[in-house]
Amino acid sequence: MKLSELEFRAMDSPWRKWGQRYFEIPIFQRMGLDVRDKDVLEIGCGNGHGAYLLNQSSPRSYVGLDVMEEQIEKARGRHPQYQFLVQDATDLSQFGEASKDVVIIFGVLHHIPEWRKVIDEIQRVLRPGGSFFVEEPRGLDLKLFDFFFRWGHPDSDFGIQRMEEYLKSRGFKICNKQWTPLMTMYRAQKALQPKYET
Ligand SMILES: C[S@@+](CC[C@H](N)C(=O)[O-])C[C@H]1O[C@@H](n2cnc3c(N)ncnc32)[C@H](O)[C@@H]1O
Repeated sequence: MKLSELEFRAMDSPWRKWGQRYFEIPIFQRMGLDVRDKDVLEIGCGNGHGAYLLNQSSPRSYVGLDVMEEQIEKARGRHPQYQFLVQDATDLSQFGEASKDVVIIFGVLHHIPEWRKVIDEIQRVLRPGGSFFVEEPRGLDLKLFDFFFRWGHPDSDFGIQRMEEYLKSRGFKICNKQWTPLMTMYRAQKALQPKYET
């Protein structure tokens, strides 16, 4: 879902960039994020600051996608050397099965009421043993945040616990989990031979 005007502007603020650079990326790196020579997909890449940070480590390929044209326009304008697509994350059919080593999300699933479809798609595009790095806010924090700041997140049954359970049911192993004041951060790994719960 598209961001409200307030959130769109907040995502382009210096504090957002500072947090991503000095806080979120280093935590993911401590969890094992290493994109050198890897095929990387960033979902909900926004204005491309994550693309800039990830590409400092020379991935083999990088694609950032976002459903908002306005975000991709900014990303392309600022980082014309990287690949960006306007694309809804519930449909990753343009990416082949087992075509990515790393999929990364900085706070996006809570914007997508059909977030389970996105996880299914990530499961499909990751290579066996590939890693999914994701950070998302807790449901209660979101509601409090919206109450005070009116960012207008969509109605959704998204929650950290539900996401964790769904990841496991789709054959992911939760390798790392870290609570931070705003987000809970995860590294989940696609099994070498995925087993699905029925
Ligand atoms: C909270 S912003 C985070 C942006 C960026 N990842 C960051 O950390 O600054 C959420 C992003 O997810 C994008 N988004 C929302 N729904 C989406 C969907 N269905 N498919 C792809 N991107 C989506 C929004 O357009 C927005 O750029």
